[in-house]
Amino acid sequence: MSDAITPRRVSFDWTRTPLHWIPDEPTATHVINVLHLLLPAGERWFVKVFKEALPLVTDEQLLKDVKGFMGQESTHSVQHAYVLDHLAEQRLDTDAYTRRVEWMFDVLLGERPPWGLPVPDREWLRFRLSLIAAIEHFTAVLGDWILAADALDRVGADEVMLDLLRWHGAEEVEHRAVAFDMYQHTGGRGAARYLRRAEGMALAWPTLFYLWVTGARYTMRHDPQLDHGAYRFRAHRAAARRGLLPSWASLNRAMPRYLRRSYHPSQEGSLRKAVEYLAISPAARAATAKPTGSAASS
Ligand SMILES: [Fe+2]
Ligand SMILES: [Fe+2]
Repeated sequence: MSDAITPRRVSFDWTRTPLHWIPDEPTATHVINVLHLLLPAGERWFVKVFKEALPLVTDEQLLKDVKGFMGQESTHSVQHAYVLDHLAEQRLDTDAYTRRVEWMFDVLLGERPPWGLPVPDREWLRFRLSLIAAIEHFTAVLGDWILAADALDRVGADEVMLDLLRWHGAEEVEHRAVAFDMYQHTGGRGAARYLRRAEGMALAWPTLFYLWVTGARYTMRHDPQLDHGAYRFRAHRAAARRGLLPSWASLNRAMPRYLRRSYHPSQEGSLRKAVEYLAISPAARAATAKPTGSAASS
């Protein structure tokens, strides 16, 4: 793990980013756009759940990492929400979809179990932490993917969007172990802890897949520049073959890795590549040049 996990107070100027920010590639554009639909509510929820769990952390280093993680995730959430405003300005309104996502995180996975389910508070918290650890496995995999996705540069993808995605991806790789370590630290002992971790993944990946596909269907259908916009697996496969998207197969393969008993996120992705990108990212560099302020407030 790197020395200290701290948020970078980045900002992006969206005024010149076109709706199809990967030129002539609506499927690749919208599949990646789904991240903007899911992450604002999702990462806000990470921070809320971690806040609830903070009193359980008895390790000083982990506490520091967790606070850095919360600052980074809350910054990610805000920056992706700005992209939603930019999509709305280009007549792609995502409200109906993002409201459903918000309901899932805020109500279904809120502070209390839904429908008055009789789950003890501690167990409900551990369950949500196991979901976050599983999701963070995928954000690290995706972060590593975007950092290496040179094909996007070759086809002329918008530089500001690439910087947002790669700054975010690099921070995901940088803090890839925090949610897992948090879960291991607070998730109890032995077989129950492992089983709950596996259960987190068994729920997280199919849900993520479902949200991703329905999100891509939604944005393609509502894209004012497409006549009969529709998400198709065939088009996704073709874009993935050209290196413009991660393939579903590669993401499916990431799941069994997480289920290994010996799994630790430090085995995922390249921290070196992440650190190298953060050193050249225009947004991250501009953020370092700014006077420092309160970390998690943006
Ligand atoms: Fe994030
Ligand atoms: Fe993350």
